[in-house]
Amino acid sequence: MKKHRLLLVDDEPELLAVNKECLEDEGFQVFTAKDVLQALMVLESEEIDLVISDMCMPGLSGSDLLQRINAKGLDADVMFLTAYGTVENAVECIQNGASDYLLKPFDLVQFLRKIRQVLAGREKRLRMANKGKSLEAVLAFGKTLSRQSSMKKFIRMLIVEMRKVFSPQGIVLIMPSIKEGDPVRRLSLGPLVTNSPDWIEPLGARVCALSEAAILSCEYLSLCSPELDGLGISGMCAPLRTPFGRTGWVLVLRDGQSPPYLRDELNLLSLYTAQAANAEENRRVKQRLEDMSLEVVMSYVTAVEAVDVYTRGHSERVGNFARSLGQELGLSTHELEQLYFAGLLHDVGKVSIPHSILTKPDRLTDEEFHIMRKHPEWGKKILSSISSFRELVPIVLHHHEHFDGSGYPQGLQGEDIPFLARAISVVDGYEAMTSNRAYQAARTPEQALAILEKGAGSQWDPDMVAVWTKVVLRMLEDERCCA
Ligand SMILES: [Fe+2]
Repeated sequence: MKKHRLLLVDDEPELLAVNKECLEDEGFQVFTAKDVLQALMVLESEEIDLVISDMCMPGLSGSDLLQRINAKGLDADVMFLTAYGTVENAVECIQNGASDYLLKPFDLVQFLRKIRQVLAGREKRLRMANKGKSLEAVLAFGKTLSRQSSMKKFIRMLIVEMRKVFSPQGIVLIMPSIKEGDPVRRLSLGPLVTNSPDWIEPLGARVCALSEAAILSCEYLSLCSPELDGLGISGMCAPLRTPFGRTGWVLVLRDGQSPPYLRDELNLLSLYTAQAANAEENRRVKQRLEDMSLEVVMSYVTAVEAVDVYTRGHSERVGNFARSLGQELGLSTHELEQLYFAGLLHDVGKVSIPHSILTKPDRLTDEEFHIMRKHPEWGKKILSSISSFRELVPIVLHHHEHFDGSGYPQGLQGEDIPFLARAISVVDGYEAMTSNRAYQAARTPEQALAILEKGAGSQWDPDMVAVWTKVVLRMLEDERCCA
């Protein structure tokens, strides 16, 4: 147990010595000072819980000491020893923040009782302040956690925070597995649980069967697994609870050299797991919504392709081609993902075009062609309403721009056309040329590359055409090798 640190301030050396001895016998750590200046020096170099000062001293008085302690913002309680004649000063000091005073003469029992009262009040105050700080930290942690979009990052952050706050020698996170056939997945960290000791599994099963957060005593853990008997390992656990039920458990363990967890720490762990479960639920719901949005948009793509059998599979192929082109361009994972989705969704605006135009086998009239050219803008409207697809909007909107500025909808030129839209334009053209359409038979890859080459610099970005040509030639070579 922590020893309280007291500072005795008195100008009478004999009294200081006697009091020091008595208080040390009672288990306190005692510092002494013969005047206010010396007391301030001690206070600045040592963490003192309670200053016990004589009120009336030659030179600076007890109230001067209190004034300086307040001015320096020092965190120590102050108690005065006062004779009847200076009791008014002591009362005034209490109004200025002193904790208590004791009227001389007093006996040791009264003296100790007062000291313990003041220290108990101090402990309570500090606990409240710590609780406030902990609560702030938990809330801040919950906010950071809810910003994590991937499960992997979420778990890593949770474990790091639990290690920082609870200093365990072992931490185990038990969550439902995404793999079939394995009911739970465990993530263990710390010297006590590395190499998954045999007792982890039965302990995990016991923990999952609990209904509430709990402190796990050495005795309880020994019951869970006889291998733990005599090791002195203790711990605590709390569920990750969402409105739909428990989605996992956090288990923290301490070895025999560390003190067992206390009720306050269990409450704090429960607060952390509540925040974590909430953040995880939000992340899951958001992911589900995004998946649903993708499903809705993909149903638009299917609807467009269902009308015209000749374009069936076009979007999927453009998505795959775009990803291959992006890989050759050395794009990041995020950009590759953008390219793939933009490829899938580039013609989504065609859902707004009348079937009669979409399926017309003959050449379109000028008016029909004008309507057909609206599809990038309609695509923009559809995708803008879904937050997770907003970054695809410029790609979809500009996939029919031409490098020389003769395309639509805005007649953008050269590098003013978004980079990824220039990439989609090349693979979209290539896919259309190499597929059977109502108005033309499929061209061979070589023929399509020749057309791309001819249009490089006018319709398409010449650099992009060169890179795509490289990709196609390699694919053809691979096919020849496999044939
Ligand atoms: Fe298009």
